[in-house]
Amino acid sequence: MFKIDQSLSPHLIIFATTIHLIMQPKRYLVTSALPYANGLKHVGHLAGAYIPADIYVRYLRSQKRDVVFVCGSDEHGTAIPIQAMKEHTTAQAIIDKYHQAMKEDFADLNISFDIYHRTSDPLHHETAQEFFKYLHDRNELETKETEQYYDEASNTFLADRFIKGTCPNCKSDRAFGDQCETCGTALSPDELINPISTISGNTPIKKKTTHWYLPLAKHEQFLKDWILDQHKDDWRSSVVGQCKSWIDGGLQSRAVTRDLDWGIKVPLENAEGKVLYVWFDAPIGYISATKQWAIDHQKDWRPYWYDNDTQLVHFIGKDNIVFHCIIFPVMLKLHGNILPTNVPANEFLNLEGDKMSTSRNWKLEMRDFNQDFVKKENGGDQCVDMLRFYLTQIAPESKDSEFTWKGFQDAVNNELVAIFGNFVNRTFVLMHKLCGGKVPAYHAENEDKLDLQLKEDILSAKEKIETALEKYKFREALFEVIDLARKGNKYMQEKEPWIKAKSLAEHPSNQHLIDNCLYNCLQLTANLSILINPFLPSTSIKMCKMMKVVEQMLDWSNAGSMKLLSIGYTLREPQLLFRKIEDEEIDFQINKLKSAAMQASENINRDSPSPYLPLKPEITIDDFGKIDLRTGVILSAQKVPKADKLLQLEIDLGFEKRTILSGIAMHFTPEEVIGKKVIVVANLAPRKMRGIDSNGMILMAEDLNGKLHFASAGDLADGGWKVS
Ligand code: 2FM
Ligand code: ZN
Repeated sequence: MFKIDQSLSPHLIIFATTIHLIMQPKRYLVTSALPYANGLKHVGHLAGAYIPADIYVRYLRSQKRDVVFVCGSDEHGTAIPIQAMKEHTTAQAIIDKYHQAMKEDFADLNISFDIYHRTSDPLHHETAQEFFKYLHDRNELETKETEQYYDEASNTFLADRFIKGTCPNCKSDRAFGDQCETCGTALSPDELINPISTISGNTPIKKKTTHWYLPLAKHEQFLKDWILDQHKDDWRSSVVGQCKSWIDGGLQSRAVTRDLDWGIKVPLENAEGKVLYVWFDAPIGYISATKQWAIDHQKDWRPYWYDNDTQLVHFIGKDNIVFHCIIFPVMLKLHGNILPTNVPANEFLNLEGDKMSTSRNWKLEMRDFNQDFVKKENGGDQCVDMLRFYLTQIAPESKDSEFTWKGFQDAVNNELVAIFGNFVNRTFVLMHKLCGGKVPAYHAENEDKLDLQLKEDILSAKEKIETALEKYKFREALFEVIDLARKGNKYMQEKEPWIKAKSLAEHPSNQHLIDNCLYNCLQLTANLSILINPFLPSTSIKMCKMMKVVEQMLDWSNAGSMKLLSIGYTLREPQLLFRKIEDEEIDFQINKLKSAAMQASENINRDSPSPYLPLKPEITIDDFGKIDLRTGVILSAQKVPKADKLLQLEIDLGFEKRTILSGIAMHFTPEEVIGKKVIVVANLAPRKMRGIDSNGMILMAEDLNGKLHFASAGDLADGGWKVS
């Protein structure tokens, strides 16, 4: 039962309640991935791990289920000190800045965490240390000694990101110990050519170090039974698929400690200078956030992590699957905790035809959207809901999807404004015009097939939305809400109360038909406010205001009722729920995106050495004229004994045949080059190599990856043509 808005005269409202026959768990703990506190987050993050979780939680809350929604900032790992180096400040300053900023951005977009915690909090340090100690003391961790790069100048072992060098693949010198920034190849520090420490600039030495490892292979059978058997049908196939390939690929022991001075100290005596690996401590952040929430609300946190009647759901992006489905569950099992019931991981969201990227500035940050839309205008709340709507409509649930500004405009203008907003607005306008601004009476004797169909549509939409939400199919659930509004428009169009009003004088009984139509449309409006609430909470609240009802009406159990608004009840004037997005706004955003990306690419080019070799000193046309270039074709080729790099080629220049030695044996087999048309420097002085005279040189080109290609003679004659 909901109470009527206090400003109204007392009024009796009767509700239909839905009885849920499904067995429900006692409580829910819902988590969203803890974002790294090293920068602002973009709409790709929002669509992946935050909006779907928020919809799910709001839905559960509207059913009065016991649910706690936790999140917080991930403040450890090398990402933090690296950002501090970039911003010329301390790691502490970085986490303080971004923790606050991310917390604000989420709040501005109505993400309703019960707690937004942080992993630098002492409660988290204690919780993570206790967890580690528990596993350690029960011999669940193994230790291993390995050799790692060490910087003698700063007396530190170097994390992968603190070692720079030349990429073995593309030869760029923008490669780090984990990945090459130029070609994207995943690397290990040992693969880097000429490694140097980014801290001191010196060449690091190799030094022995000991770490603790989680022996995943021991838990292979458990993981197979739990994921590949028990959850093969109720988890997303992309999640099960990724887990399967990890398991099939052979589970390796994972180091859970690092040599670093930023992080949670390993709680052992012989572990000076060692911290917990960020991916060990971060998911434990979900537990410490729950503890903090419990302290703040005088609750007990334990059942949320120990009672099997708790449903634990992790919302994440696909890059976090292995941590949430394999590593953390093994940790939880060993620690005696419950396991996640589901991990609805999303794929990635691209932007305007390209992957979102912070370094290339190809992104839409939540903060930018808030500044350009939400905070710029009165009633910016509607912009929050517009973004939530579009991001849910394109949610990358089963494959990568794409945000485009045109898509955003279409979703808002063609669906929110033209379907949902239009239905609610027409209903209110007509009710004021044709029913005196009050909920009209319902004349059961005039009820017809269309009225009955509408009632059925409402009930069936409610059911479909529930089923979709319980299965984490948010796109589908949202579609059903909009589809119900679409049916409302169709119903009104077929009933045409405005036409009936024109002939009221001749047919006074038309008033009954008008009343019934608007009564049903008003009840549908009330139902829509309940059903859209998990997705677009501000819109629902606005609708409650228009209907002069308190927010308790939004309880899910009220959906399906045709008696939500009582007969004779006075309603307010309509307010537009959504505004249109204009072409200029879209053009502005697209230009902004492109110019930010262009600026970023200029900065990258300025700050980093070019992968292209510098040009040699200038020559004159006369210098060039001395070189006689001719086309030729390779007749035969063979390796030169005891010379790894040389191929001996027989080349037909048309007017004569030549022997030329070429240093291409590491790139081509003799068979590959026979028949190739080539360009030859034909007047180069002969040179003896390995006892063989070489008479000329063939032209080759080296690409950015160091691969050789023949300077193509293309469709030129086989031999003899002069190249000029
Ligand atoms: O990928 C990330 O942004 C990580 N900071 C997510 C951590 S999720 C959890 F384990 F805390
Ligand atoms: Zn590379």
